[in-house]
Amino acid sequence: MGKENDKIEMVSLFDFTGVSLSGVGRSKKPNSVLSFRLEKKVDPLSWLLGDDYRKGEFELFEDVGQIYELQLAKMEYESFKSNMEAFRKRTAYFKVVNGEKSYHYFISKVKGKGQIGHTNQYLTHWFYPYKGKFHGQMIKSIINFIGAEGDDIILDPFAGSGTTLIEASVVGTRSVGVEINPALCIVSQIKLDALKTDYPEFTKSIVVKDLPRIFKYFSDAEAYLNERRWEIKINNQNARDILIELWENHFPNSFVKEYPLEWRNLLLLIYLHALSDYTYLKGTSKSRPLEEFFYINFNEYSKTLKGVYETFRELKMTPKEYVVILGNALRLPLSDNSVKGVVTSPPYSIALDYISNDIHLLNYLGIDTKKLREEMVGLRGKKTEKLKLYEQDLRKSIEEMYRVLIKGGWAVIVLGDVVVNGKRTDFCKKIIEWAPQIGFVDYYAMKRPILGGFAKLRYEYVIFLQK
Ligand SMILES: C[S@@+](CC[C@H](N)C(=O)[O-])C[C@H]1O[C@@H](n2cnc3c(N)ncnc32)[C@H](O)[C@@H]1O
Repeated sequence: MGKENDKIEMVSLFDFTGVSLSGVGRSKKPNSVLSFRLEKKVDPLSWLLGDDYRKGEFELFEDVGQIYELQLAKMEYESFKSNMEAFRKRTAYFKVVNGEKSYHYFISKVKGKGQIGHTNQYLTHWFYPYKGKFHGQMIKSIINFIGAEGDDIILDPFAGSGTTLIEASVVGTRSVGVEINPALCIVSQIKLDALKTDYPEFTKSIVVKDLPRIFKYFSDAEAYLNERRWEIKINNQNARDILIELWENHFPNSFVKEYPLEWRNLLLLIYLHALSDYTYLKGTSKSRPLEEFFYINFNEYSKTLKGVYETFRELKMTPKEYVVILGNALRLPLSDNSVKGVVTSPPYSIALDYISNDIHLLNYLGIDTKKLREEMVGLRGKKTEKLKLYEQDLRKSIEEMYRVLIKGGWAVIVLGDVVVNGKRTDFCKKIIEWAPQIGFVDYYAMKRPILGGFAKLRYEYVIFLQK
């Protein structure tokens, strides 16, 4: 790749009303799917669809308004344009395909707390307020671009609270998540299992009048769990097995244990969500007793479970298989050339302490965090050594992604442009430099502005690397 081409062109805000559309992106192959360019004053739909454009037959969601979204919309469309029925089921950005409402239109109507338009927090994404979540809609479009289907595997080696796995499972492709924090493995597993909840049975069996004693059970359990504190072993254990072990060996006996495992798990997640709300809102005008948060969340979770159940039945959707593994992204428990795509977001440098963020959760479950800190990307080491170790670990994790990808497969990495000690870390640029050294044949970075939200984080990069 020539020197000149090595520079990454960036995206600017797209103005639908016309004038300031700017060119975006580059790729090694001039005609590659990544190198679409927007022309001035182009009608986004005719640009997106080319010859297939027929007015009224296709519509984007009204909140698709940035260049990176249009690019991703085009990329997912190019992947599936030969199968419009599949496209209607899978698209993230189109509201109408061939004159009919897309599945995402109905899916994003199953609303969750903190939802913005059609982008995030729909379905069970909003269960548990995990701070480092990425947006489901964007992830869905990336999985579509990768073209993963059926038995193909999509991997997230930094799975966090399971966004990638939820989207993969909704579009009908298998997925594996690896996450080092056992509490988050549990959260992901429960959010995924919740997509299959038999809502009519759930609501018949768990009734509002039982809630006070369910709350008391979880509240009293904390002391009991803490008598049985456990140190994690990063041994590639399945999250489902961790949950089974927790219920068998850590939680006290009671009527709650008679509920089916998935329902017990859901009640646990509702409690953990309440605990997080309680911890973060303490001392603010939104503060409430823990018990109240539990009741409010139970009510809201129930609405989502109902919505998921009814929507999936209507659309005849069954979530595809997923596995959540307590493991280390630097030593993936997967064989070489086994996954079709990686969609992930590693810790954004050393800026966020992912353990402190969810310490209430880890403490409640009686999990010792010392070992965890020694293995977490971005948390290892002290002072200046910390950033060096982060860089080393980030590179190692990308080498691992390369190893497990099939030839032609894509690793797509979402990474924030964080400032550490007053300096931009610019790891996106580093990743683009490493890409050919590791063996990737095509690589490209898309800049995604972050509007509102984290004031310190103005941009994220979506980095595409092809094996
Ligand atoms: C930015 S978050 C990912 C969030 C995720 N995309 C979501 O939507 O919930 C990064 C995650 O990487 C995890 N992590 C850190 N070091 C790890 C390692 N060595 N192996 C696996 N996961 C790790 C952290 O616990 C954290 O959950």
